[in-house]
Amino acid sequence: MKSRIWWIGILAIAVAMPRLVRAGGADNKYAKVDKGPKTIDVSKYPKEMQGIYKNDFSKKCSKCHTLARPINTNKKPDEWNKYVDKMMKKPNSGIDKKSAEKIKDFLVYDQKNRKDKK
Ligand code: HEC
Repeated sequence: MKSRIWWIGILAIAVAMPRLVRAGGADNKYAKVDKGPKTIDVSKYPKEMQGIYKNDFSKKCSKCHTLARPINTNKKPDEWNKYVDKMMKKPNSGIDKKSAEKIKDFLVYDQKNRKDKK
């Protein structure tokens, strides 16, 4: 009799588990990219790009989410241009037009020279 109760318990867990896991994932659709690498090795990038990475991209794009999000997201060049504008227009983004333009150049460069080559 006792083992029957055990089996019912185990069955209930087996049924509930995948639902719990899925619900957790749905809470944050960026969970996967956000857990990826948080830095880019820019040591072989042109000096100008290294400067943007350090002074603009790393500082401005990690305020509301981790830097891993843009680092592990792929977009076409024109999509990056639009997307940086979108991020800039968010309330309290702290991103001015000048650094937005620099960050666009960096993301397009990085897309072509790192992400697209993977
Ligand atoms: C003011 C807060 C804020 C700042 C600053 C910010 N983001 Fe975001 N970002 C968000 C939010 C909120 C989302 C979730 C989607 C949305 O609301 O647009 C997001 C989502 C994203 C995504 C996922 C988009 C997709 O299509 O999967 C990328 C990539 C991204 N941001 C890049 C950047 C970059 C690059 C910068 C720096 C220029 C930046 N973010 C700065 C708030 C911010």
